[in-house]
Amino acid sequence: MTLQADARLTRGQNLTSIQSYLLNEEARHPGATGNFTWVLSAISLSAKFIAARCRRAGIEQVLGEVGAENVQGESQQKLDVIANESLIRCLGSRPAVAIVASEENEEPLILQEAEPGCERPYVVLFDPLDGSSNLDVCGGVGTIFSILHHDRRAPNAAGSVLQAGVKQVAAGYVLYGPSTVLVMTTGHGVQMFVLDPSIGSFLLVNDDVRIPDGHRSYSVNEAYLQSFPEGYRNYLEWTKHNGYSQRYVGTMVADVHRVLMKGGVFLYPPSDKAPKGKLRLLYEANPMSFVMEQAGGKAFSGTERTMEIQPTKIHERTSVVMGSPSEVDRVLSFL
Ligand code: AHG
Ligand code: MN
Ligand code: MN
Repeated sequence: MTLQADARLTRGQNLTSIQSYLLNEEARHPGATGNFTWVLSAISLSAKFIAARCRRAGIEQVLGEVGAENVQGESQQKLDVIANESLIRCLGSRPAVAIVASEENEEPLILQEAEPGCERPYVVLFDPLDGSSNLDVCGGVGTIFSILHHDRRAPNAAGSVLQAGVKQVAAGYVLYGPSTVLVMTTGHGVQMFVLDPSIGSFLLVNDDVRIPDGHRSYSVNEAYLQSFPEGYRNYLEWTKHNGYSQRYVGTMVADVHRVLMKGGVFLYPPSDKAPKGKLRLLYEANPMSFVMEQAGGKAFSGTERTMEIQPTKIHERTSVVMGSPSEVDRVLSFL
């Protein structure tokens, strides 16, 4: 029986799970040990676990605050803690992960001491639950992750974590919205997967995500407008006379994902409340910048390319302007 021409599936129509996508990529790198695949599959497993918890948050009474504050001095939501624990437990079971650093932990966690000869090549940084204040109102929330090579010459765990964004080997995010979307990059473009809850698999829906250009839309919390530096205020004033729309969820993952899908620009400028900007460089700005640049966008902190900033503290903050290249250029022209 010969395959009819129309029966052949083009690549775009194949059913590809994230596991088969990762194994396929691994097979393309002869020297690959499979460690990297393990790390990404741990993140995908944790994302499914967190998605299930978010879907039942109100029912399981895990909404609301634990009554504790995290290292950021922000009140922790119960799901922040659950998400954090699940990532640590999923990554902890993978021998390839030396260190994890989380928004919810003051110091990096050394998961296992590197046994002699057993190279522990990766450091994984994450914001386990981004936009968690939106949980109680059933708003979109996310997980953000960034993967670096473990720098064994570093004097201590923190030293290995404090690497510039250009050193990332992979990064991405999960958006827990009407569907659960996992977007990632390993430096070869951007791939997007959607969780099919009926089979518990992330399925590939786009293997080369590109950000549209020319969409007149911006995303910022304009409540702080008066305390933004003048250049940002001039840009935002200009938009009011040039046919722009404004969208803002208050979850970076949701706001940036919309910009990635539709085009436009996401901004979190310095403000009186957050003189260096509110978003954290290592596990919010850098991973989202890596995805944005790999999709043809741009990502700056003021007039500096975000991924070139040399971090000095794990939880250091930065301002953020990221999105379509022409829109980011336009914002920069006002700074
Ligand atoms: P997190 O919940 O991990 O602390 O992140 C919240 C961040 C980010 O998701 C969002 O872009 C920003 O806070 C919103 O800040 P404002 O409420 O000041 O606009
Ligand atoms: Mn966050
Ligand atoms: Mn968070």
